[in-house]
Amino acid sequence: MKYELRKYKWLPGAIYPPELEWLKLHLDGCQIDMIIECGRQDGASALWYAENFPNMEIYSIDLDDRPDIKANSDANLKNSSVKAITGNIFDIVPELIRNNPNKRICLIEDAVKSWPGLCLVASTFFYENVVLVAQHNLHVGHKTREYWENSSQDAVFLEQSTDPLIQNSLNQWINEQDQSVLNRPGDISSLGLIDLGKNRFFALDYMLANRALFRFWDPVAYRNSHGRHTLKFHRGFVRRSIIRKLIGQKR
Ligand SMILES: C[S@@+](CC[C@H](N)C(=O)[O-])C[C@H]1O[C@@H](n2cnc3c(N)ncnc32)[C@H](O)[C@@H]1O
Repeated sequence: MKYELRKYKWLPGAIYPPELEWLKLHLDGCQIDMIIECGRQDGASALWYAENFPNMEIYSIDLDDRPDIKANSDANLKNSSVKAITGNIFDIVPELIRNNPNKRICLIEDAVKSWPGLCLVASTFFYENVVLVAQHNLHVGHKTREYWENSSQDAVFLEQSTDPLIQNSLNQWINEQDQSVLNRPGDISSLGLIDLGKNRFFALDYMLANRALFRFWDPVAYRNSHGRHTLKFHRGFVRRSIIRKLIGQKR
């Protein structure tokens, strides 16, 4: 292992400690040198990445539409190496990926849930410099959780892993943590990971065969629109889709 994990102070609602172990295992295994975090909020996870992975370049994007939260984030990240960017992930992520063709990038999506967030993640399957993708809040019963499980031939969630380190960490968490304060079961995680180095074509095949699930948030159309203004694209795309529906034309 390259890094020693800094102590992580878990707060209710936040990512579970074994989920971070699961992420770390992949960051090491995929030899990541750049993290793009979508959704910074107070900068808690961004700071954790910077402290634990000092050799990585870390970008963290947020709309920063709440001055109080932005002030917390500024204070938390003041002495860190995190490059905090204010903007919409749908505009910034494609730009960062295109501008860093020689990096090994991990995209961590914790800003926009459900199909829109998944659309952004899936559109990056086309870029070879994106080698690891993660999405948070994939709770049990959610359709996008099932989508993640079907997009990889490897374990996506930590409870599916047979790695002894991960199993130990999960058991320790379950035994030591008061389960009554959790808003989801402690032994079922919601951080999905896909190692694109091993599963790129599998993930692309599944996505291309299941584009209809995304409805207005088609990852291929979004990917083709990179470089145009996202909101404009989505307005145009929704309009075209409605017209197609009205005239009964298939996509
Ligand atoms: C769950 S919080 C992120 C938590 C953070 N990753 C952590 O673990 O400490 C979600 C954040 O995503 C931001 N967000 C939501 N939609 C966004 C968008 N389209 N572009 C950029 N940021 C967005 C919100 O402002 C919010 O701060």
